[in-house]
Formats: sequence, C-alpha cells, structure tokens
Amino acid sequence: MNEKAITRTRKSIGTHFSMCVQPSFIIGTNNEDGSYNFAPITWVSAACEKDDYFIVISIFGTKRTKQNINRTGVFSANLVSVDMLELMDYFGTHHAANGNKDDVSYTVSKGEILDVPVLGASRWVYECIVEKSVDIGESTTYFCRIKNVQADENLFFKDTYDVDLTKLEPVIYSGMYHSIGELLGKIGEFI
Ligand SMILES: Cc1cc2nc3c(=O)[nH]c(=O)nc-3n(C[C@H](O)[C@H](O)[C@H](O)COP(=O)(O)O)c2cc1C
Repeated sequence: MNEKAITRTRKSIGTHFSMCVQPSFIIGTNNEDGSYNFAPITWVSAACEKDDYFIVISIFGTKRTKQNINRTGVFSANLVSVDMLELMDYFGTHHAANGNKDDVSYTVSKGEILDVPVLGASRWVYECIVEKSVDIGESTTYFCRIKNVQADENLFFKDTYDVDLTKLEPVIYSGMYHSIGELLGKIGEFI
C-alpha cells in the first residue's frame, strides 16, 4: 500500500456558480468605427487539431467584445501578468457601451499577422481567428485557431513548453486575483 496516499474528507456544496481556477487574458477587438476595445476574459482553455493550437474562450451576454468577435471573427488574447492587474480590473469593470475605455494609460499596436489590437504591456499574446462557436444559454464558447504567438523578447525559454511561469507572472483568477507560487518541475519528474 502507498504510505503517501492522501484521502480528504469533503462535503458537497452545490453546483451553483463557484470557484474555478482560471488564467487571465485581456481580449482585444476592433469596434465597428475602427477604434479598439479591450475586456478581460478568464473562461479560457486550449485545444488542438493536427499541428494547430487553439484557444477556447467563453463569453456571456451581449457585451461589445462578443459583438466585435461575432462581426470580425478575429481578436488578440493578451496574457495578463501581475503588473497589468490595474489594467485588467479597469477594462473588466467598464463596458464599451458606456464609452471608450481611456481613463487609464496603455499602448496598443496592430497584430503581426491579423488586424487585431494588441496591448503593449502583455508578455504573451495570441492572434486568433474564430473557427467554431457553440451557444449554451447566454454563453458563447469560441474555438479559435492561433495564427501567431508574440512572446516578450526578455523571456528566455528553450521551447514553447519550457516557459517559466514565475518569470511570466500570470494573474490567476478564481473570483479573486492571485499570483502563482513556485516552479514545481516537468512532466515525468514525479514518477
Ligand atoms: C477578472 C475578470 C474576468 C472576466 N471574465 C469574463 C469571462 O470569462 N467571460 C465573460 O463573458 N466576461 C468576463 N468578464 C466580464 C467582462 O470583462 C466585462 O463585462 C467587461 O466590462 C466587458 O467589456 P465590453 O463591454 O467592453 O466587452 C470578466 C471580468 C473580470 C473583471
């Protein structure tokens, strides 16, 4: 018998909206008038098809970000690092329908491959095209082909699976904002 086996005592707490560990991205989209809009989305996952990598994002309701993605089919996903927390909090508590989000300062450039607005502050950016979407109630989940990845030139990594997140400093959202702790190791090192 495994001496280290752990068995917790748990209780059922119901299935309503609850904590889920989520990575934080700020989604950049183009407005109809040619200006840009940014909003945080943390319902984010990944998928793949053959050699192509996909990002999967879910958007609730009829917010501008959803309208823009439905109209243009493209967006940037800007990973949020701890030094971007103020920006994320601002974008997430202001709705484009109430006016442009320009009370805080940030820089924007155009994607390298796609016509999408990209945040100057982000250390890791995906440029994405929507391939498929699925509606569940008022939520829409988008499966999006990644057409380009922009990584901070100051991030050193041997390959794209070898990125030290303690250097990337992503914000993890669960209903509250967190930073990550230490690097624990690689696949296979714990067998
Ligand atoms: C930390 C954080 C995470 C969020 N994640 C999501 C999400 O995953 N899906 C979603 O539909 N809205 C999410 N929101 C809400 C939108 O970002 C928010 O409604 C925003 O104001 C929408 O902006 P827009 O109207 O300019 O599109 C999140 C907000 C915050 C602050």
